[in-house]
Amino acid sequence: MSEEKKIESLQKEGQIFHPDPAMQPRAWIKSMDDYRAVHERALNDPESYWGERAKELITWFSDFDTVLETDYDTPQFKWFSGGRTNVSYNCLDRHLTNGRRNKAAIIWQGEPEADVKVYTYQMLHTEVCRFANVLKKKGVKRGDRVALYMPMIPELAIAMLACTRLGAVHSIVFAGFSAIALQSRIKDSEAKVLITADAVLRAGKTIPLKPNADEALKGCPSVEQCIVVRRGGNDIAMVEGRDSWWHDEVGADDITAHCPHEEMEAEDPLFILYTSGSTGKPKGVLHTTGGYLTYAAHTTQYVFDVKDDDVYWCTADVGWITGHSYIVYGPLALGATSVMFEGVPSYPKPDRFWRVVDKFKVNIFYTAPTVIRALMREGDEWARHYDLSSLRLLGSVGEPINPEAWLWYHSIIGGGRLPIVDTWWQTETGGIMISAMPFATPLKPGSATLPLPGVSARIVRRDGTPAEPNEGGHLVIDKPWPGMLRNVYGDPERYKTTYFAGFPGAYEAGDGARVDGDGYFWIMGRLDDVINVSGHRMGTAEIESALVAHPDVTEAAVVGMPHEVKGETIYAYVTLKAGIEPSDEIMKDLKVWVRKEIGPIATPEFIQFADGLPKTRSGKIMRRVLRKIVEGSSDFGDTSTLADPGVVTDLVEGNRDLR
Ligand code: WT7
Repeated sequence: MSEEKKIESLQKEGQIFHPDPAMQPRAWIKSMDDYRAVHERALNDPESYWGERAKELITWFSDFDTVLETDYDTPQFKWFSGGRTNVSYNCLDRHLTNGRRNKAAIIWQGEPEADVKVYTYQMLHTEVCRFANVLKKKGVKRGDRVALYMPMIPELAIAMLACTRLGAVHSIVFAGFSAIALQSRIKDSEAKVLITADAVLRAGKTIPLKPNADEALKGCPSVEQCIVVRRGGNDIAMVEGRDSWWHDEVGADDITAHCPHEEMEAEDPLFILYTSGSTGKPKGVLHTTGGYLTYAAHTTQYVFDVKDDDVYWCTADVGWITGHSYIVYGPLALGATSVMFEGVPSYPKPDRFWRVVDKFKVNIFYTAPTVIRALMREGDEWARHYDLSSLRLLGSVGEPINPEAWLWYHSIIGGGRLPIVDTWWQTETGGIMISAMPFATPLKPGSATLPLPGVSARIVRRDGTPAEPNEGGHLVIDKPWPGMLRNVYGDPERYKTTYFAGFPGAYEAGDGARVDGDGYFWIMGRLDDVINVSGHRMGTAEIESALVAHPDVTEAAVVGMPHEVKGETIYAYVTLKAGIEPSDEIMKDLKVWVRKEIGPIATPEFIQFADGLPKTRSGKIMRRVLRKIVEGSSDFGDTSTLADPGVVTDLVEGNRDLR
């Protein structure tokens, strides 16, 4: 960013955008007084508040006895104990008798413009029941894990809901991950069945997916069956006795559209979703039934102000938590119409999103800052071509949205009249934690604004004492909420140390943030060795271990480098084994290697070969220094503990050559 732009952006930070009073009477939360009253009540008496919300939003087969049992030491949190419910029932069956039977549940837009499918609640119910019967036939039972490795096709949502119908636990692996990444996730969760597709259609290409599944399954003894959706029509190999086609399975004579739902306990596991942490292995974040669904529905209703006649579109991939909570579970629990989109924003032209908004008259649109920045660079004309007047509300998620992008989104997409909800949350939180109430909260571009009703967010210093206004510190949540993760799958110790050991009696988010004089939250980014590439969390340790697994590499250190569109991009410092000369070939080879080990999203954009890395005398790599180098800064702070200060000068030079 130029100096001028920076100043401009700082000035814009001071601007406040007030909600349109005309919109308030119909909103779920109508004013700041309304928000404050609900928030206060929720904090003062969480049990009565959440108990009420759970009953308003969810259908229970038997009432819960207690709202919350809290134990920060183990740690263990139990929400709605004794309550019995079923997620698929709540997302489907109950809408068949409440007037929504013929309403669109999912409007699916495939990558080719003409590929559109609409599922009414009745139709979706039928498909889910049929597929649940297929899973049952394959021996899937309550508590079994089912891995899903699929493109953005309706079968993905159908498979998720079918799992929940039987009480099976799904573990979705984003289709952009490699075979190796898929394998490690399947092994960790010991899934019994894998559901995948022949290919992913993306940006005009047919990218084979099944070969990755085959590769992964070579090392997954737990997987007995693999069900394949035909999407690309490309040739694939089918393993006799293990693999079968989705369409053959659901079309079989013995598969009916009648499948009773299991009555699940509120705390029964619902799904596992892997996310990167500061050490090598991804964590299997575990969410459970009653609390997660309550929280997904609660946040969808308040943050997106969803009404029955709305068309709601969240552009995320279901392979990430955003898609779980805000394409599938939240909207369907509310009986809303959710758009599911297979393509990318820039193909065939950068007008794709606006074309779809116009086509389906989307009312609520939720995307990521990286998308906004990329589209902003393509110019305003792409959007101006379409009628975007159906839009009522805009949302953003994944990373802080910079004021330039915010203002572009606001004026060009929102016509200067729509609220933007900048939503802060995480895989672990299950749903949105900090966000404006769209028709109540005055907005400050770049701030996620205020905690949601019932969310007790605070900024503390390392020693746990409260930070002053505007003082940066650790973001913690010091009261339980229904959507919180309940464990790290198979690793309770890691659950405890990662989230509850840092600040006793609170959940540690791992983000730095400050609260300004008005109580507004400004998220500053991760405090651990996790970087945020296009709104996706990547563990530097994961990429480093992929790099050092390469036969030519001795050592690697990965840091995030600021990037105009992606927020951050991956920058790797690599030391090669003695006798191996740096070359363009090795660089290319290493990039291909990381793609293969983790997936395209983890590919380093820059690889700098270095004879040595800056280390303390005790051998610890000083990442702070490495980060400063990629930022182009020469202010390295205290480097007196460096074993060999000369290393830094070499690295700075190498960095300059690379750009
Ligand atoms: C991390 C969570 C849950 C949404 C998708 C990412 C960053 C997320 C915001 C925001 C600033 C944000 C945080 C967080 N983040 N939303 N609105 N403003 N930062 O989920 O992969 O679990 O990553 O994304 O650093 O810790 P995730």
